[in-house]
Amino acid sequence: MLFNSRGRVARHCPGLIVRTLVHISDIHFGRVDNATVAPLRRAIEACQPDLVAISGDLTQRARTGEFREAREFLGSLPSPQIVVPGNHDIPMHNLYARFVHRLDKYQRYITQDLEPVFADEEMVVVGINTARSATIKNGRINTSQVGRMQKRLCAVEAPIVKVVVTHHPFDLPNGFQNRDLLGRAAEAMPGLAKCGADLFLSGHLHVGFTGNTAVRYAIAGHAALIVQAGTATSTRGRGEPNSFNVIRIHHPQIEVERLTWESSACDFRRSHIQKFHRGEHGWAELKSAL
Ligand SMILES: [Fe+2]
Ligand SMILES: [Fe+2]
Repeated sequence: MLFNSRGRVARHCPGLIVRTLVHISDIHFGRVDNATVAPLRRAIEACQPDLVAISGDLTQRARTGEFREAREFLGSLPSPQIVVPGNHDIPMHNLYARFVHRLDKYQRYITQDLEPVFADEEMVVVGINTARSATIKNGRINTSQVGRMQKRLCAVEAPIVKVVVTHHPFDLPNGFQNRDLLGRAAEAMPGLAKCGADLFLSGHLHVGFTGNTAVRYAIAGHAALIVQAGTATSTRGRGEPNSFNVIRIHHPQIEVERLTWESSACDFRRSHIQKFHRGEHGWAELKSAL
């Protein structure tokens, strides 16, 4: 019998939570609501995560001081972590810095690794940089990146859960335009589907959302979960309070819980929970579990 790092029974035991993944996004140091920072840290610690995924936009304007604050905050969270950059982590107004030194500060203060990977006996999590100098706000994925992700994802078999982390989203909630979608997502998805990607984590929109790839991409035999995190700490919430996600894997199910900021309680509290089941045709929501 195998045990994970926190002593939980691992390896495909039905009903038992074998992994807990905390997903935060768009922390935007330089534009944070300071009241949320310490409660967020405490709420994440209370989840006892096996992994913390941070899907980009760590800063507001890619300034050195903002990266330092982000670095200090990430250092105060549980490890291991997987981090990808967002469009705000590339300098915006200084064109020389934007095109020549685009992710220098991110790599100096956060991580050198623009394609981080976490793998254990229950999940493989691959992160990829979708921020681009030329597109200001929008992001993109290219065929080389997809090829490298495929190598990681195809190397393991289900029921190991295969997770992709990007800043820009593979799907959109209502009210957004296709221009908000990750560029070349339609070209990338068939290759990722072929390798059995189960779960796509992203941010960027500052709106929490769950969806299924079967709706937008309609690839035979593939139905993966899309999980979007709102902004965990930024003051720019697009009409939503701050939030983050806790994802619990217990074969053959995944539970996605959203914790939302309640200013009256000065804390993050559960606001949504959804359960998904892996069947013959991929992942589908368990409506009866709501
Ligand atoms: Fe953002
Ligand atoms: Fe963004």
